Amino acid sequence: MSALLEIRALHKQFRGLTALDDVSFDVAQGELLGLIGPNGAGKSVLINVVSGVYAASAGTVWLRGTDVTSLPTYQLARRGIARTYQNIRLFARMSVLENVLVADQRYSARPFRTLFAGGRREDCAAAEVLLERVGLAAKRDALAGTLAYGEARRLEIARALAGRPRLLFLDEPAAGMNELESEELAAVIRSFRAELDVIVLIEHDVALIRELSDRLVVMDSGKVIAVGKPAEVLADPRVIEAYLGAEEADG
Ligand SMILES: Nc1ncnc2c1ncn2[C@@H]1O[C@H](COP(=O)(O)OP(=O)(O)OP(=O)(O)O)[C@@H](O)[C@H]1O
Ligand SMILES: [Mg+2]
Repeated sequence: MSALLEIRALHKQFRGLTALDDVSFDVAQGELLGLIGPNGAGKSVLINVVSGVYAASAGTVWLRGTDVTSLPTYQLARRGIARTYQNIRLFARMSVLENVLVADQRYSARPFRTLFAGGRREDCAAAEVLLERVGLAAKRDALAGTLAYGEARRLEIARALAGRPRLLFLDEPAAGMNELESEELAAVIRSFRAELDVIVLIEHDVALIRELSDRLVVMDSGKVIAVGKPAEVLADPRVIEAYLGAEEADG
């Protein structure tokens, strides 16, 4: 049986720069895959290619055996792919609830107005359930721009889940969070696992990634340098070297 998501020989070139260099790995049904690597390794670019934000330069993304490489984001959304962004993207002057209501990417071909017209009752109910589950029920009428950082990150996740995706890609959802907020986030992510076919989690917080991931994929300079169980991968000299090398380069 083939994996739910198969990434094969993916390349992404930006003018002279190779951001993805022959990236291949599989993600199985039910898996929470951690994607790690030093700054600039190509993690976000990979998610951007798989979710259709960037077109691949070469290679293939197979979803349930269908070639979905470089389809537009709304078509990938209809096939169940949702993602959050490394930089929070909320409508600061809309309420928390409205942010979830307008987030369903499957409808992005529809005019904004019909989407928005007060929100259909079942859409509102579903959005409220999502807010409850990410711990934002009490903030439903607050303007998104007034949220604390950790709350904004959780709203991003509720927005990604608004279209009832099957695959969820989270790009550094714990960035900038304190330890308590990361713990709360881990609980939120865990609570959605059973409803999703696949979660891919990009994260620099090693404790969080070790705790949540079934398997890790490690990238460095656009390449996959290790794949396996968290404990094995984090002890792999090549992985340690990639991180130490990055630290030395930083300072
Ligand atoms: N739109 C773009 N145009 C040109 N170069 C880009 C673009 N997006 C990313 N890159 C480059 O591709 C490389 C990989 O970037 P990417 O954002 O995927 O790194 P990352 O692994 O997510 O790092 P970080 O942990 O810092 O988020 C970097 O050299 C980056 O500068
Ligand atoms: Mg990134």
